Amino acid sequence: MRDLPAPQPVDVMAAAVEHAVRTRRAIRAFRADPVDIGLIERILSAARYAPSGSNIQPWSVHVVTGAVLERLGGELTETFLSGQAERADFAYYPTTWRAPYLDRRRKTGWSLYQLAGVERGDRAGGERQRARNYSFFGAPVGLVFAIDDDLNQGSWLDYGMFIQSVMVLARAHGLHTCPLAAIGNYPDVVRRHLGIAPGQIVVAGMAMGHADQDAPTNRLMTEREPVAAFTTFHGTSEPIRADAAS
Ligand SMILES: Cc1cc2nc3c(=O)[nH]c(=O)nc-3n(C[C@H](O)[C@H](O)[C@H](O)COP(=O)(O)O)c2cc1C
Repeated sequence: MRDLPAPQPVDVMAAAVEHAVRTRRAIRAFRADPVDIGLIERILSAARYAPSGSNIQPWSVHVVTGAVLERLGGELTETFLSGQAERADFAYYPTTWRAPYLDRRRKTGWSLYQLAGVERGDRAGGERQRARNYSFFGAPVGLVFAIDDDLNQGSWLDYGMFIQSVMVLARAHGLHTCPLAAIGNYPDVVRRHLGIAPGQIVVAGMAMGHADQDAPTNRLMTEREPVAAFTTFHGTSEPIRADAAS
């Protein structure tokens, strides 16, 4: 029997889970306050119950804090600012952008830059904002997710579920996160600092900690398409309830 909290009325549990899922958002400025490493372990201890095909559990996680985080963030930032081309071990994005994805991407980028005070065409300002990715946005905890390079797309699907579990659990404990594909852009630097074998791919990083509530970039509220825009219901003529669709 897994060690689970005492059962709660269903509506209380539903509200708690929904709150954690709906209040998770990418936070891009953190307070320096440390996070108890025991809490990180507790989050990972629950996240490991994420499903994976045939239960192969393809995740390999590095929790990075203190001087190691400073050194890693420092070298990644320097590497980015030196102009070295970003080169992840895998393609995160499509090679050719098209609607509707390009429009959504632009909207997110422009909204973020606007909050950061970066005008259109301000290349130096854009670079400064992007550089913050590499210091994990000042978070006291950085996570790095690696995967064996002989695993296949299905395992990456599993990994996404694991990473989302980490983020939702962090919310349940009052913490915030930002998943960071950017951390995979200089995989050799990350591998060297964390002793990750060459046969492992750096999937992504994650910033975790307490949100800086005063930071303008943390006011970014991204939108979502309504359920009806991406869902086809088969075998039912029931209308979608308004509260489920919003
Ligand atoms: C796998 C993954 C990698 C991401 N990498 C970055 C990143 O490197 N830098 C960043 O600022 N945001 C990153 N994001 C955050 C997305 O921009 C964000 O999730 C999206 O705009 C939706 O906003 P929300 O998370 O606030 O709901 C990443 C998200 C995911 C799922």
